[in-house]
Amino acid sequence: MTTTTSAVSPTSTIGASLHANPAVDAAIKSIRAEVERAQRELSGARPPRAELKESLDSWLKRATEVRGRGPLYPYLGSGVGNGPLVELVDGSVKWDLINGIGVHMFGHGDADLIEASIRGSISDLVMQGNLQYNADAIEFGEFLANEAARTSRLKHCFITNSGCMANEAALKVCQQKTGGAPRIIAFADCFMGRSTTMSQIGDTAAYRQGIALNILVDYLPFYDPEMGQRSIDMTLWHLEQLIHRYPGEHCCLIAELVQGEGGFNTAPREFFVALFEAARKAGIPIWDDEVQTFGRTESMFCFERLNLGEYIDVVTIGKITQACACLYTADFNPKAGLLSGTFAASTSAFATGLSVLRRLKSGGYYGADGRISKLFAAYKEHADAFVAKHPAWFPPVTNSLGRTSKTVVAGHGGMMRLTPFGGNKEKIGKLLNNLFEDGVIAFSCGHGPYHLRFLPPVGVMKPEHFGPVFEIMEKSFARTA
Ligand SMILES: Cc1ncc(COP(=O)(O)O)c(C=O)c1O
Repeated sequence: MTTTTSAVSPTSTIGASLHANPAVDAAIKSIRAEVERAQRELSGARPPRAELKESLDSWLKRATEVRGRGPLYPYLGSGVGNGPLVELVDGSVKWDLINGIGVHMFGHGDADLIEASIRGSISDLVMQGNLQYNADAIEFGEFLANEAARTSRLKHCFITNSGCMANEAALKVCQQKTGGAPRIIAFADCFMGRSTTMSQIGDTAAYRQGIALNILVDYLPFYDPEMGQRSIDMTLWHLEQLIHRYPGEHCCLIAELVQGEGGFNTAPREFFVALFEAARKAGIPIWDDEVQTFGRTESMFCFERLNLGEYIDVVTIGKITQACACLYTADFNPKAGLLSGTFAASTSAFATGLSVLRRLKSGGYYGADGRISKLFAAYKEHADAFVAKHPAWFPPVTNSLGRTSKTVVAGHGGMMRLTPFGGNKEKIGKLLNNLFEDGVIAFSCGHGPYHLRFLPPVGVMKPEHFGPVFEIMEKSFARTA
């Protein structure tokens, strides 16, 4: 019998030795260098290559067949990108300013994330879950909990495999805390995910068509900047009416501090303070849905920028973190059995998620003078100049209360919006298609008025990138108008 010499060190595990192995390291570095070499070929938008069109058409046909419905855009990535630029299978290169609705903070093919992902992929587990996990799952949760605890009472973190599941966990935690109180207070135009429950809380009729409605939701109007203090007074009045009408029957007040799908609507601190004070007085838990805002505003958690941490009982996050989570205070820590699930996230998702979080924390992104704030300022400067140059494309916008506004450039941080054509749905749909063809991928938000929505890859988008983007916009707008 032959014996092999073990590589086990007296002070570390075989796993730790494998991950520190110089041969593994060299192999990863060599893959990274090849990826970077390929990426350098993408330096700006490019039209499709005629000889590749057939392959795109055939892929789209297959996608339509398997799903039973065609995709929104003829988008199919080739697997290579360079920051905000992505190559599609038809050989076209486009500026991706929506990133799968805000998922890819560092854009396409970020070398650090590719490296982190490869390191994660040599781990023994592809997927980690509530029964079986490695150190990275704990580090991921700890990072979020520590970051949240700096400015709030939040303490614990439960990891989930989607933003919607994080929201499901949050709702359960709130319900258990209030002894199963049946009603939910939410804001008009909110979005929360696609489970049967979240589709019912979300304020879009089309997303709950044909669903048996069994969730009791009371809606509050969101802040209207045209009304200012009156808007605060009006929403507070609505909340007080609800509290009076259904005493002790609400399990939570759920808020997006910047509404995402609802139209990148922002509100000042005073708006939330007035409502949160009233809710707290009535014993209604406050749940902050940061699935879209997390990482993108002037602080990692949006509640920190607005100095609202003291009010938050539960918060949910997702998207840019690659794995999602529900965080809650010690007081809201639920009983055993309420939260679990087979999958939390893949090991690569934890590795890349941690890499994203560490870079965001140390990369100068936050604060009034941080990179995110500067990027929004650069966007606004370009957008304002664009509007001034083409006033005919930007008539005043009438909101759902019938009020007219001249504000057509808005949003906050890495959530940027533009409202052309009076917010007309059909025209904006046509514009999005033209933009896609011309080399800019964007999306819409709002429920009337509709807006152009940009969630650019804030980690890699530079102020000067808006130059070529607005050049393309010029062409697409002219074709649409
Ligand atoms: C505010 C908000 N909450 C929840 C969700 C649902 O997240 P997911 O699509 O990961 O389930 C989203 C997704 O866009 C969102 O924007």
